[in-house]
Amino acid sequence: MSSISIKDLKDHVGEEVILSGWVYNKRSIGKVWFLILRDGSAMTQCVVVKGQVADDIFDLGNDLTQESSVSVTGVVKEEPRSVGGYEIGVTYVEVHQIAEEYPITPKEHGTSFLMDNRHLWIRSKKQHAILKVRHQVIKACRDFFDNNGFTLVDTPIFTANACEGTSNLFAVDYFERSAYLTQSGQLYSEATAASFGKVYCFGPTFRAEKSKTRRHLTEFWMVEPEMAYCNLDENMDLAEKFVEYIVQWCLEHCKTELEILERDTSKLENVKAPFPRITYDEAAKILEDNGADFTYGSDFGGTDETIISQQFDRPVMIHRWPAEIKAFYMKRDADNDNLALGVDMLAPEGYGEIIGGGQREDDLSILESRIKENELDMKDFGWYLDLRKYGSVPHSGFGLGIERTITWITGIKHIRETIPFPRTLARLEP
Ligand code: 4AD
Ligand code: MG
Repeated sequence: MSSISIKDLKDHVGEEVILSGWVYNKRSIGKVWFLILRDGSAMTQCVVVKGQVADDIFDLGNDLTQESSVSVTGVVKEEPRSVGGYEIGVTYVEVHQIAEEYPITPKEHGTSFLMDNRHLWIRSKKQHAILKVRHQVIKACRDFFDNNGFTLVDTPIFTANACEGTSNLFAVDYFERSAYLTQSGQLYSEATAASFGKVYCFGPTFRAEKSKTRRHLTEFWMVEPEMAYCNLDENMDLAEKFVEYIVQWCLEHCKTELEILERDTSKLENVKAPFPRITYDEAAKILEDNGADFTYGSDFGGTDETIISQQFDRPVMIHRWPAEIKAFYMKRDADNDNLALGVDMLAPEGYGEIIGGGQREDDLSILESRIKENELDMKDFGWYLDLRKYGSVPHSGFGLGIERTITWITGIKHIRETIPFPRTLARLEP
């Protein structure tokens, strides 16, 4: 007799097997009771019939509570009407623990209660489905770069300098000095790209976001490719192929999960390259034409992003931004020094920015003056400036926010459900 996963029942029809998991639900009708068992891979119905098991096993029908842990022995039968299409004719049940009264019941609970119980909430069907999609999104990111000649090179979490401005840095005590938690691995990836050509880093990044929105976390995961000998257009070519790959991968490999989440997948099927590319000026015109409350020269807010993205049936890339609102490292447009060669990608359906990136300044003296203009400390950037002294080349890259991307693909409202244990302004526990 073998221990198997519920997802593998199809290969064991007619055999007696052992399934280990947790009681999801239970109901009884006289001399029969049914147990819906979940083991993390899937769910199945186990049928316990009086007379076909010892009396003490049949009596467990009264004792087993929601989330009790059990190993069920039984014979696998095809049963199209049952959850997952199979059913277990139970011969034995081993109880590991009878669970105490479980706080999360099928009734409606408020979000803050559920978030306080996040360590338990992740067992629920919908949360389980979202985190399964997360796993596939991350796998798709890694596969895409691994299959396209990129080398994964990790970047540090503790840093001495600021990549994305000084306003949302988390400072930590670092022995006799202070350090920051990284906002982005980009500056280091620029160094590794000069060693490997095409690289990516993938890890947690941190921003002390004081605003409470449904799009911001203080700890989020970012995947960041960086390429030597790459200009802004080539960077956008890569970004659209990458996002198409992730979405199409999920459509193929997350069918069950997207169904559980009731995602309208027809909207995702459109996500095929090429994506529309518009300049910041064209985006500003769209806002003006739609009567948005927007000042030319400023960054787009959530509502602005929604208006812009609603004009298109797939993600849209906005490039050539006013330089003052973009980071110090961005290269300027050769035709207009006020414009930075940055690009943001907005997801459709109002999900907002999922990618930020651009072409990097590769000239030593220009970069030095940008660091001064931005009142950054030159001594923190010595190693970064070296990259412009020893074989400087045109180079570009971008960062994709994993949780923003999952929020969009799963079609849920709030980013906090896309990461196992979210960190926000108000939440450090569990
Ligand atoms: O646009 P951002 O700030 O770009 C960078 O950090 C670049 N250094 C990346 C690069 O060029 N290598 O952030 C990139 C993406 C955003 O588009 C968004 O998807 C996500 O990171 N992001 C957040 N996600 C969740 N919560 C937050 N507070 C986020 N801030 C940014
Ligand atoms: Mg950005």
